[in-house]
Amino acid sequence: MYKKLKILDEKDKRLRLISKDVTFPIEKKEKELINKAMEELKLSQIEEYSEKYNLRPGMGLSAIQLGIAKRWFVIVEDLGDEKFKNYFFANPKIILQSEAMVYVEAGEGCLSVNREVEGIVPRCARVTIEAYDVDGNKFKIRLREDMSIAAQHEIDHLNGILFFDHIDKNNPYKNADKYRGI
Ligand code: NI
Repeated sequence: MYKKLKILDEKDKRLRLISKDVTFPIEKKEKELINKAMEELKLSQIEEYSEKYNLRPGMGLSAIQLGIAKRWFVIVEDLGDEKFKNYFFANPKIILQSEAMVYVEAGEGCLSVNREVEGIVPRCARVTIEAYDVDGNKFKIRLREDMSIAAQHEIDHLNGILFFDHIDKNNPYKNADKYRGI
């Protein structure tokens, strides 16, 4: 039987913690969890498995959503044709960001938020991030569009921020015309 990851729900106060820097080397057990998270995100994006295992589709997950208050997250990018690319970021820092802003037209989502949330979350269309890989090697990557949004969403998690914190409750679609929906 497939054993699903235990993902914290938004009501869990741990999601509001500010996570601590990752130190290297990362323990074997934690590396296994990282791989498991990437595998589950991949499966969740394949309809057959998302139905079979009842997985809500998602492309990113942060350590704190698994109850670990450390500054790492994973993203699994759908390249089409059931091909996926895994990304791991530890201790990420946004070193450059575009002035241009975008938002997810269908609404941003989060595997810890099990309800519909109305409104737009403005995000930088492009970011350059400096981070460490799973072996502690520093790298720099430029991300755009949905990958840029996903990384900003996950970095927020490391700082105890959930996507709906960015939505104006009285006017959820405020300034929508100033940003580009994707
Ligand atoms: Ni999330």
